[in-house]
This record gives sequence, C-alpha cells and structure tokens, in this order.
Amino acid sequence: MTLLAFVLAYLLGSVPFGLLFARAVGVDLLRCGSGNIGTTNAFRCAGPVVGTLTLVFDVLKGLAGVFLLAPLVHAPWALYATGLLIILGHTKSAFLRFRGGKAIATSFGVLLYLNPWAILLAAAAFAAVVARTRTVSLGSITAGVVYPLLTPFFRHDPLFILLSYALGAYAIWLHRENIRRLLAGEEPKFTFGPRRDR
Ligand code: G3P
Repeated sequence: MTLLAFVLAYLLGSVPFGLLFARAVGVDLLRCGSGNIGTTNAFRCAGPVVGTLTLVFDVLKGLAGVFLLAPLVHAPWALYATGLLIILGHTKSAFLRFRGGKAIATSFGVLLYLNPWAILLAAAAFAAVVARTRTVSLGSITAGVVYPLLTPFFRHDPLFILLSYALGAYAIWLHRENIRRLLAGEEPKFTFGPRRDR
C-alpha cells in the first residue's frame, strides 16, 4: 500500500493543471513568459481566470493528495515521502518529460496538511513581500527561507525538520533563473494578465 501511495502521489503531482487550463484558452505556458507552468505564469500569460484556477487546483493537488493518500501509509516517514512525491511530481512531471514547475502552490497545499502553522506564517511572509515588491519569485524565495526556520517551533521530529530544510533549499534552487533575473534587475512584476503593464 505504501508503494501504491508513492506512485499515486508522484502521478498526481505530475498533473500540470496550469498547462492544461492555459492550453484550453490557446496559450502554451511552456513557451510564454517564464515558461513556468505555475500560477504566476498562468496569470501573466493567460489571465486571471486561468491564473486563479491554476492556483486553486495546484493547492488542492497538494492538500487533497496528501489527505487522500494518508490512509494508505502508516509510518510518519512514509507520509512525509508521500507529500514530497506530490511536490516532486509537480517539478519533474511524468507527463512533461520531467519538466515542471516550482511547486510553490502545491507545496503550500501539502504543508497545510503536514505543518499548517509554519506554512501559514511563511505564506504571510510571502504575501507581505509580494504586496511590497509585486515580485512573486521574491515572495516564494522568502517563503523558502522562512518555512524551514519556523518548522522547529511547530514540529519536533528531526527527520521532518531536516526534510523542511531540504524542501526550502529545493524551492530556492528551482528559482535560480529568477534569482539571476532579480540580480540583473530583469525580473517582471506580477500582473493579472497579458494586457496589463509589467
Ligand atoms: O511560484 C513561482 C513564482 O515564484 C515564480 O514564477 O513564472 O515568475 O518564474 P515565475
């Protein structure tokens, strides 16, 4: 059952909702904007309806995925691995030749189940940075730093804390192109759609 949960977690995580919703309105996210399949690029390239749907479905993929698969696993490590495999699926999708997104929304969903207070506080830091800078990647990187630092206040399992640091580092690594653009002053500001100014 544990192995089944792992396979299902990875396959569920691999479903690229943003790409599918954008494709339905004739936009290829892989060839537009940052080329990312996530919420920010869905807003940027395909507008607020596709952006909002992408956000909701990517968060639910993480939250509902780990909630529904939890009964199939018993050991805490296996539950953590299930959540991580959903996130891994989003970033290295089985349906996109192992390309994928940065899994910020999906990680938020997974961690709402596994470590809600720490991720809600990290989300507040994300929101504060984005509200001030209008730069989503900067908010995501901030959350990737803040989340593992907060985790030991809420969870005491050393494995969980270690994995939280690994997850934060992975999120930051996935933003390496954004970091390069940020340093070059070339990172676009958030927009609700393609017709708005950047
Ligand atoms: O959640 C992804 C966000 O941090 C950056 O997205 O498309 O600007 O690379 P994007």
